[in-house]
Amino acid sequence: MANKQQIYLELSPGVKIPALGLGTWQALDDDGEKAIDCALEAGYRHIDTAYVYQNEKAVGNIIKKWLESGRIKREDLFVVTKLPKHGNRPSGVPKYLQESLDSLGLSYVDLYLIHSPFGFQDKNPSDPNSEEIVDVTTDHIAIWKAMEDQVINGKARAIGLSNFNERQIERVWSTAERIKPSMLQVELHLYFQQKELVEFCNSKNIKVCAYSPLGSPSSSKVLGKEVPDILNNETVTDIAKKYGKTTAQILLRHIIQQGIAAIPKSSNPKRIKENMEIFDFELSSEDINKLNALDQGKDGRLFDFSIFKGATTHPEYPF
Ligand code: A2P
Repeated sequence: MANKQQIYLELSPGVKIPALGLGTWQALDDDGEKAIDCALEAGYRHIDTAYVYQNEKAVGNIIKKWLESGRIKREDLFVVTKLPKHGNRPSGVPKYLQESLDSLGLSYVDLYLIHSPFGFQDKNPSDPNSEEIVDVTTDHIAIWKAMEDQVINGKARAIGLSNFNERQIERVWSTAERIKPSMLQVELHLYFQQKELVEFCNSKNIKVCAYSPLGSPSSSKVLGKEVPDILNNETVTDIAKKYGKTTAQILLRHIIQQGIAAIPKSSNPKRIKENMEIFDFELSSEDINKLNALDQGKDGRLFDFSIFKGATTHPEYPF
């Protein structure tokens, strides 16, 4: 029988991330606050947000409420946020991390990630909704040095990357003089299992966190294309019946059991709770193999960032 407790992944000595966290992309304002409140109630301690999700204040409001009530201590929580693409330059790192900390009402985050390898020009403060313009000068090595500074000055306990490809990770990793990236957050789900990238990260002792672990079923509008229905895949449904679990729980367990973190997004109290109930069973290696066989390789990718005008022309466009 599997351990009923949360599983932790060690990012660096003393820095452990709960493998299952709450994703908050598209969870705004009231919706976001309710989701985080409900998640903390259900035992979540890892909350994933980002500057661009525009919900750091909502996350901060609920964290404040819980900290003030004494129900949790700051050190029980693992808060992740990310440098926005329009802050992708060395001076953007302290600036945007501080803005995130102010919104979150925290003095440090547990993990700070560079959200994307490509960069855009900084926003004009007097016109924050103006069209974003690609900044082709993005320099990962210089940005990484500024990321390291944030650990040294105590504003982030760990640092990492998101949406970087293998070549880009290798370059940051091999040139990082003080602190290596300890986490890569990427799209990863049943149809896009990222086997090679995960193997590469394992070889560098970089932990992987899966976003869209359920295949982002409600993103077709944002993406402007049909999104495959992983939650109703026949093999997953059969396996779910066998274990008396839901298909979402099977999909999440499949990821977590491979030592990968996952941050399913939900704003629904029942599903938030359901997604956490994956630590009381273990998939057999036979079932893991069946699920592994459903990988569609790069055809399974949903998010290619072509929705950001100009991103695909950036020299650091990753795909
Ligand atoms: P909702 O917020 O209404 O629960 P992903 O994390 O892969 O991007 O998926 C998030 C989407 O999946 C959200 O639309 C969310 O909807 C839905 N979702 C989250 N958990 C479950 C679940 N256990 N069963 C079905 N759908 C879920």
